[in-house]
Amino acid sequence: MERGLNDKVALVTGGGSGIGRATALRLASEGARVFIIGRHADTLDAVVAEVAAAGGEASCLPVDLAATDCGEKAVDATVAWSGRLDILVNAAGTFPYTPVHELSDKDWDEALAINLSGVMRTCRAAARAMGEKGGAIVNISSTNAVMGDKVSCCSAYSAAKAGQLGLTRQFAAELGPAIRVNAVLPGPIDTPMLEGWLDDPQERSEWMARYIPLERLGRPEEIASVVAMLVSDDGGYVTGVAIPVDGGMTLV
Ligand SMILES: NC(=O)c1ccc[n+]([C@@H]2O[C@H](COP(=O)([O-])OP(=O)(O)OC[C@H]3O[C@@H](n4cnc5c(N)ncnc54)[C@H](O)[C@@H]3O)[C@@H](O)[C@H]2O)c1
Repeated sequence: MERGLNDKVALVTGGGSGIGRATALRLASEGARVFIIGRHADTLDAVVAEVAAAGGEASCLPVDLAATDCGEKAVDATVAWSGRLDILVNAAGTFPYTPVHELSDKDWDEALAINLSGVMRTCRAAARAMGEKGGAIVNISSTNAVMGDKVSCCSAYSAAKAGQLGLTRQFAAELGPAIRVNAVLPGPIDTPMLEGWLDDPQERSEWMARYIPLERLGRPEEIASVVAMLVSDDGGYVTGVAIPVDGGMTLV
């Protein structure tokens, strides 16, 4: 087991499931102490127990990332638990889809609150806490940030995910040299978020054969491994980029 993150403290949003859970487990396996936040105390507690069972150290707090004080709540709780903050991974998100003709202002505002404003708020609070000591931030955006989607009517999600790329570039420019800020663009990954998306197995495999060169869904661990590289010294000269981890989907 690599131990490249010894002495580091990581805050992972959306750490109770999917990509956030896999990232929390991966960072803990590399020696980081991990604080996870999300909506549901029971799923957060379960991941904290998984980290402990694997010999790591974790804690958690339910925080609504659509709330205006979410950044301070999440970062203050992490620092109160651990005394410091070195790594932030923004994995929390929702994937609402509504055809544009039916998209209400409320739907739009809710999608942007969690998927864009929440990311800005946690980055802002983390940057204040990291200060001159520095750190690394990774935002889990989406291939929807850079391409249209014929299957899902997810305009608010796509706009928010594209907005995350603007934040990532600008924060990288402003916060260097102390803090590196990068984004990952997952293609379709096998997590609870995909429930209800191309549920018919035949339709799903035809879609993957057509649109994904690697012809399968990604696994959450395959996102976590790229995040682990980006927040470690292995990614020490990387900032402001958006790395697709999508089986080649954005190529074709
Ligand atoms: N699964 C995919 O195919 C895919 C593709 C591209 C991008 N992503 C992105 O990856 C990230 C992780 O998604 P996932 O696939 O692991 O799905 P997931 O549904 O398992 O995880 C999303 C997490 O966000 C949390 N969350 C949602 N709203 C919240 C709120 N208001 N406050 C606090 N926490 C909240 C949920 O509790 C959940 O733990 C998301 O940002 C998503 O947009 C996923």
